Amino acid sequence: MNNERGVLRISPDAERLMITAADVFVGVVAEAIAARGRADVALSGGSTPRSLYHLLASPDYIGQVEWARTHIWFGDERCVGPDDPQSNYGMARDALLSRVAIPPAHVHRMIGEAQPPESGARQYEEELRASFGLAPGALPRFDLIWLGLGPDGHTASLFPGTAALAVTDRLVVANHVPRQNTDRLTLTFPVIDAAARVAFLVSGADKADIVARVLEGDRTNTADLLPSQRVSPINGELLWLLDLDAAGALHL
Ligand code: 6PG
Repeated sequence: MNNERGVLRISPDAERLMITAADVFVGVVAEAIAARGRADVALSGGSTPRSLYHLLASPDYIGQVEWARTHIWFGDERCVGPDDPQSNYGMARDALLSRVAIPPAHVHRMIGEAQPPESGARQYEEELRASFGLAPGALPRFDLIWLGLGPDGHTASLFPGTAALAVTDRLVVANHVPRQNTDRLTLTFPVIDAAARVAFLVSGADKADIVARVLEGDRTNTADLLPSQRVSPINGELLWLLDLDAAGALHL
């Protein structure tokens, strides 16, 4: 189902949702490598994508991705070290990256433990500029950016009411999240919207209400938009990969 809010693909259950997501991952990477010899994918954090990452590392999928020509980035990171249970990198490393033959230099970790956090943001910006060969002021064009959806409508570490939402002249920023009393590193909206493809991966009945609010809620007052409602690829595809539970409150 397509609408101005993107392409919705609804899977019967969580297991088949992850198969759909893995097939998207495989297809995008193959297409990117065929077109330009390399694929750049940003992973999302949280808990939902863990089973996708396990699936990609499974015998069914591990041979379908040319890991030697794939670069893995992160959409956001908690301001913790890589071995902290909260680390998005740590989760992806354990579920996927330590299980596939991806060159270490192709795994671009956000340095969550950097102090101050802004130094970690600056470091990641430099890594993006160097790896993508960006001219000053240019934006990296990811082949695919995975995003999750938080119960408050946040995505990446772009939380409602936080300073990062207004940033338009940076690639990566440190963002303080008062309601969690935590600091995060996150890609900014300009980088997300520059991607060739952005895919939200949302599973479970506990997300049904926020999914309906994001996809069907009023958008007339742009000042009231939730962060996930503001994701709008300028020259790219927006995908919503849902299972039936997460889509349960949609008026389809
Ligand atoms: C993070 C994520 C965040 C996440 C949502 C959904 O660092 O937590 O980047 O944006 O995707 O909070 O998280 P769950 O998948 O755990 O519901």
